[in-house]
Amino acid sequence: VVDPRLQGISDAIRVVPHFPKPGIMFNDITTLLLRPAVFKDAVDIFLERYRGMAIDAVAGIEARGFIFGPAIALALGAKFIPLRKPRKLPGEKISEKYVLEYGTDCLEMHVGAIEPGERVLIVDDLVATGGTLSAAIRLLERAGGNVVECACLIGLPKFKDFYKLNGKPVYVLVESR
Ligand code: PRP
Repeated sequence: VVDPRLQGISDAIRVVPHFPKPGIMFNDITTLLLRPAVFKDAVDIFLERYRGMAIDAVAGIEARGFIFGPAIALALGAKFIPLRKPRKLPGEKISEKYVLEYGTDCLEMHVGAIEPGERVLIVDDLVATGGTLSAAIRLLERAGGNVVECACLIGLPKFKDFYKLNGKPVYVLVESR
C-alpha cells in the first residue's frame, strides 16, 4: 500500500532543468516548504518511522538537512548536530572529505557533539551518488556514534525502498525526477 501523502510530496518538489549547470535536473524543495501541510506530511512520515527507535541525535547535512533535521529532532526529543561545509564551525572539529563530480568537498563536525554509543539519524534533502551521506556516516562513526539510518526526502530510483551505504540503511520518501 502506497502512502497517499507521498504523491503530494513528490508533486510539491519543483524540478528545475539545467541548474546549477547544464544537464543537471535540480530537485528544489523550497516549493514544498511553501505548503505547510505537505511540509508537515514529510516530517510526520519520518516521525512515524523514527519514534520508538531511541534516537539520541539527529545530524543534519548543510544546507537543506538544516531545514528538515531540526523539525525531526525537536519532535523526537533528540539533539541536533549540524554537519557543516568547511571553515564554518568555530570550535575544535573533525572533518571528512568526499568526492564530487568535479573535485572534492568536505563535511565538518564539532568534537564533543556526539557521545560514544549515541544513536544517530542522519538527515538530508536528497541523495544522488551517496558521497555526501557516506562522508557523514564516516564522520559520526569516527566520533563513536551509532548511525541507525540515513533519511532523505528525495533519492535516485535505486535508493527507493531499501538501499545501504557503508552498511547503513538509507530511507527515501520519493524518487528524483
Ligand atoms: C546536495 C544535496 C546533498 C548532496 C547529495 O547538496 O543537498 O547534500 O547534494 O549529493 P550526493 O549524494 O551525490 O553526495 P549540494 O552539493 O547541492 O550542496 P548545498 O546543500 O550546500 O547546496
